[in-house]
Amino acid sequence: MQCVDNFRLQLGKKEVVPIVIGGMGVDISTAELALEAARLGGIGHISDAMVPDVSDKRFNTTFVKDKTKFYKVNIPNPDKSIIQFDLGLLAEATNLHVGATMEAKRGDGLVFVNCMEKLTMNAPRETLQVRMSSALDSGIDGITLSAGLHLGSFALIENHPRFRDAFLGIIVSSVRALQIFLRKNAKLNRLPDYIIVEGPLAGGHLGFGSDWAEHDLATIIAEVVQYLKKENLNIPIIAAGGIFTGTDAVSFLESGSSADQVATRFTVANECGLPSDVKQEYFKASEKDIEVNTISPTGYPMRMLKSSPAIGSGIRPGCESYGYLLDGNGSCAYITAYNRELVFHPDGKNISVLDKTCLCTHMSNFKCWTCGQYTYRLKDTSIKLEDGTYQTLSAEHIFKDYQYSVDQKVALPSKA
Ligand SMILES: Cc1cc2nc3c(=O)[nH]c(=O)nc-3n(C[C@H](O)[C@H](O)[C@H](O)COP(=O)(O)O)c2cc1C
Repeated sequence: MQCVDNFRLQLGKKEVVPIVIGGMGVDISTAELALEAARLGGIGHISDAMVPDVSDKRFNTTFVKDKTKFYKVNIPNPDKSIIQFDLGLLAEATNLHVGATMEAKRGDGLVFVNCMEKLTMNAPRETLQVRMSSALDSGIDGITLSAGLHLGSFALIENHPRFRDAFLGIIVSSVRALQIFLRKNAKLNRLPDYIIVEGPLAGGHLGFGSDWAEHDLATIIAEVVQYLKKENLNIPIIAAGGIFTGTDAVSFLESGSSADQVATRFTVANECGLPSDVKQEYFKASEKDIEVNTISPTGYPMRMLKSSPAIGSGIRPGCESYGYLLDGNGSCAYITAYNRELVFHPDGKNISVLDKTCLCTHMSNFKCWTCGQYTYRLKDTSIKLEDGTYQTLSAEHIFKDYQYSVDQKVALPSKA
């Protein structure tokens, strides 16, 4: 019987254990989590989502406080379009986060950064260029392009000295998105080094419309495999979304994928950035507690626990401090929804916004509990303690369970 350890992912000259821990912003896939994956010979992701905020919490910088102070007079203004990111400071925050992570890296694996295009930051091209270039400057092993079609992202870094030697990959949820990406980038003569195919059971934003439930990962992968074969392209495919056991992972490795990207199992790892009480919410969840909704201002459906405090919250838009989802015109769907409700509550009190959420503020405070579909199975991966809580697991335990388990088994931890 095969286990994941019988396979290896070949990326250029590098060979790694074919387990990738997916990027989970904002600082849910911490440096500590990504570094464990690398130490164990696989691939870990940090995320650069809201990196100045992450830097403040990790390195005692004051990026958010300083930005809030700078834009303070705009707080009562319903129009947030004047808010901009200082590109020098954005580079500094990225260098701190990525640099410290790469300095701490041990082992044979790799650490990549997840870059979401939807973090448009009121200057989509300029800010994305700084985020990616600074990550490359700071020695990141690779960049995974996510949450968007990324038609111009490669071009933004084509003059970077590491453009051809760092690993660059993209997350797609359809063969069509891949075709468009490859066509748009053909003139750069630089193919992605890997393609993550993410199906509808994943956590975070979904690359599907409201018909997400009609799609399935195995079918999309088969289409991508067929397309790459037809085009004579030899690019490793990494399967993602709903791969819960080592056996699930093997089944994708046997049918055209070269690795598996997983995340949900690691949300209850000690090294995961979610606060302890939130990890318990993930453990306790049952299937009916999980939904895919449209409250993210990005326009993508997002899966989360129905009990997320972010749902229905009517807090004032936090753009003076954050503003990561301001589009190229300085607007955000949450601001529009909030301003609509403000008309009925001019004092700003008791506002509830049901159709959108202030994702920046709620992700920063771990109040938007985004999760994969199989979160309800997490309780079967650990032991219940006398006080009724579940024991969190080491990332090493989960990683090795994926690597060595067979027969749909999940290894339980020994009591801490
Ligand atoms: C809590 C959580 C947060 C996530 N955040 C992001 C993110 O910021 N960017 C991204 O590209 N994918 C994100 N994802 C998706 C994962 O990286 C991964 O591809 C997917 O969840 C794998 O499926 P699984 O969770 O069923 O293992 C997130 C997933 C989870 C569970």
